[in-house]
Amino acid sequence: MKLPDGPKTPRFLQLIQWIGDPLGYMESCKDKYGDIFKLGCSQRPIVMVSHPQAMQEMLTSDRLTAPGYPNEIFRPLMGNNSLFLLNEKSHQRQRKLLMPPFHGERMFHYGQLICDITKKVTSQWVTDKPFPIRETMKEITMSVILQAVFGLYEGERFQQIKKLIGERLEMTATPLGFALLSFPSLQQDWGPWSPWGRIAHKIRQIDELLYAEISDRREQLDPSRTDILSLLLLARDEEGQGMTDVELRDELMTLLVAGHETTATALAWAFYWIHKLPEVGKKLLDELDSLGDNPEPMAIFRLPYLTAVCNETLRIYPVAMLTFPRVVKSTVKIMGHRLEPGTEVVGSIYLTHQREDLYPEPKQFKPERFLGRQFSPYQYLPFGGGARRCIGMALAQFEMKLVLATVLSSWKLALADNKPVQAKRRGILLAPAGGVKMVMKGRRIGQGQTSEPVASSV
Ligand code: HEM
Repeated sequence: MKLPDGPKTPRFLQLIQWIGDPLGYMESCKDKYGDIFKLGCSQRPIVMVSHPQAMQEMLTSDRLTAPGYPNEIFRPLMGNNSLFLLNEKSHQRQRKLLMPPFHGERMFHYGQLICDITKKVTSQWVTDKPFPIRETMKEITMSVILQAVFGLYEGERFQQIKKLIGERLEMTATPLGFALLSFPSLQQDWGPWSPWGRIAHKIRQIDELLYAEISDRREQLDPSRTDILSLLLLARDEEGQGMTDVELRDELMTLLVAGHETTATALAWAFYWIHKLPEVGKKLLDELDSLGDNPEPMAIFRLPYLTAVCNETLRIYPVAMLTFPRVVKSTVKIMGHRLEPGTEVVGSIYLTHQREDLYPEPKQFKPERFLGRQFSPYQYLPFGGGARRCIGMALAQFEMKLVLATVLSSWKLALADNKPVQAKRRGILLAPAGGVKMVMKGRRIGQGQTSEPVASSV
């Protein structure tokens, strides 16, 4: 089978480059081989595309499918029934069960919850003490997921799950930890001191808590509750079947992991750009102030400049750099290349978003580009597309806007230093190196005035 051209360096060296410097790797391939090339960093050859036409073909053609097996890397944490890993019919069935609680309209029930959590978490900030804003954002997005998805409010189980998931994700955030995920042969549980043994132990601890919660909730099933676990406990497929405990555990874990670091990282980037570029911050504050005190979450959601800032944040450094791989089912021609059945194709969201023909001066943060024109779903796609498009898209967009509006209207913040922040791989995400260090300078009481700082201890 003839595949497009691509780097010829040994697989191991390509893998090291992909793990250590994913953006450099993708950019150098694009510069050398153009809009379509073959990557040699994985066991199976993968074709990477970034041209909008190729993205559309890959995401919508019935000659390609979106199976779960290329997402093997997620299996140890998310489990066999995770939406990430399911194929064809079972994937469609599970998506149908999961989608309704994530529909735009239902999301809006969570508006007040998101604002309240944001206020509570940020009330812990201490004046003039530098802190990485990504950590605060993780605290917020994890609480939102636990409350919106699980219906878990405070309490010991809430605190334990929060702590253990955070610890588990840290274990594979470093390049070394990510390498553990990339080489299944290293995933050996040789007791509590071996690297994989520690990970496996952590997953068992989380599982105990998840199963305990599922069991309690099955016993006291309350149809009036609106959290996603309650809706899933009541959901039935076309044959009238509900979800098993193991299916529920795997989906809960999937939503917890997929839903909190992604949004927290996007928020950390947004805070960086807003404070790095004072003119962006000023425009945004003027727009937020125009809504007056205590605006409705929906009014915040509709603000055009805030929307543009969030869009540009996810354009310049899309926290999910790639779509999930798709697989050719019957021979297809993409960008002039005949791809045979079995070929894996992945979309580089990063490279699409860096195209000079779509986004002039692509390395510059310019929210205005989203005010002047509309982009097609294959030119701008931070949440992927087609059969596996992110199911948390509406929640993530709503959450980003409400958290930014709540924080910026309440607090004066500044970057702790003026050095440019680099984009760095954290696990599978593209995150700001160092987490974006910020300082809180005082409370804001509308229209740009500040009062004496009201800071409590940590
Ligand atoms: C800024 C935040 C987020 C970004 C950038 C993001 C991005 C993505 C991307 C690129 C995909 C793959 C799409 C494809 O291959 O076509 C995806 C899939 C997915 N996302 Fe998100 N996501 C975010 C937040 C969330 C949230 C909040 C949740 C849930 C609470 C979530 C749940 C999922 C799930 C379950 C899938 C798999 C869908 C499937 O396999 O059918 N994501 N996301």
